[in-house]
Amino acid sequence: MANSQQPHQKMSKYESHELYAEFEYVDRSHATRRRRLAKKHHKKKQNGPRKQSDRHAKMMADIRKMDDSHASWVPSYAAALDPLHHERHWVISAVAPFYHDALITDVTRLVKGGKEANVYACTADPATGFELVAAKLYRERMLRNLKNDAIYKAGRTLRDADGKQIRSRRERTAVLKKSGYGQRLDFMMWVGTEFRTQTELYEAGGDVPKPLAQQGSAILMEFIGDEYGAAPALNEINLEPDEAQPLFERVMENVKLMLDHHYIHGDLSPYNILYWEGDIILIDFPQMVQARQNPHAFELLQRDITRVCEYFARFGVESDPVQLTLDLWKPYMGSEYAGLHVGK
Ligand SMILES: Nc1ncnc2c1ncn2[C@@H]1O[C@H](COP(=O)(O)OP(=O)(O)OP(=O)(O)O)[C@@H](O)[C@H]1O
Ligand SMILES: [Mg+2]
Repeated sequence: MANSQQPHQKMSKYESHELYAEFEYVDRSHATRRRRLAKKHHKKKQNGPRKQSDRHAKMMADIRKMDDSHASWVPSYAAALDPLHHERHWVISAVAPFYHDALITDVTRLVKGGKEANVYACTADPATGFELVAAKLYRERMLRNLKNDAIYKAGRTLRDADGKQIRSRRERTAVLKKSGYGQRLDFMMWVGTEFRTQTELYEAGGDVPKPLAQQGSAILMEFIGDEYGAAPALNEINLEPDEAQPLFERVMENVKLMLDHHYIHGDLSPYNILYWEGDIILIDFPQMVQARQNPHAFELLQRDITRVCEYFARFGVESDPVQLTLDLWKPYMGSEYAGLHVGK
């Protein structure tokens, strides 16, 4: 089901996203407006106010057209937004495929807006077995600018949105040269990586939200929390003294499970571990690192473990992050470890 083109969409998701991006980044400052007007005065008279209103009418018609392509459904969160607000169309177009696939019946609120993605709470279709689900919508524009993404991607197999290895030389070159087309492929790889690795970890018994579907740059997954709100992340709460040690061990079991599947989270921290009903749940996997191939794997594993240790130390858990990293890394690498110069 992933990424199938929806027949109800008249405009491709990319085209429409590029369109909102335009709305989003309009510079409305006085200075810019004055410059724009001054430019117009130099041109012929008929380029004046008439043209401006024509452009506005055309923009409104385009927006109506985009909305019409999803006219059968406007979720309540989007309905409450100004029709000109870019978020309105973004939400409608990104989650409509989930609605049409009978996975959700509504989008009720924004859980968290970040620089790379927004997460929304949705009412689930009862067939999913959940009451609520979370939709994570990536901003294409932002992901293109991800800093230091080369560290995470080093050694990673290039895959398309469906997880198939990219073998075509044209596509590989486009990604490496970061052409517009290559950046688009690259963006889809990040989203695809998150969905695939989260699915693999969930099936392996990892403490991660159950992923339900991916459509383009949107991922639908189990919602951690309840109708009153999303689960807090560890950084937002204080643990009871008697729960810190078992929860720390649980996090470390998940780190080992990931490594057993040749993955390192790469951005593990109390911000990406939710706490719900006495358990921990790991989230946020787009930067997942391939442990065997990535030359920075050991350092990234050590950084993940160090951040976890530092958090739990606040609640009395004693640990040695370097030793813990080596205890996982040495058996994982086996005889290959002897040839490496890492750690102590
Ligand atoms: N499955 C979920 N259930 C409930 N809340 C979630 C879920 N997934 C994410 N969230 C909420 O959305 C926030 C952002 O999610 P996530 O970390 O995956 O995205 P992000 O783009 O990396 O954001 P950030 O930059 O803030 O880390 C989380 O901190 C959490 O509050
Ligand atoms: Mg995060």
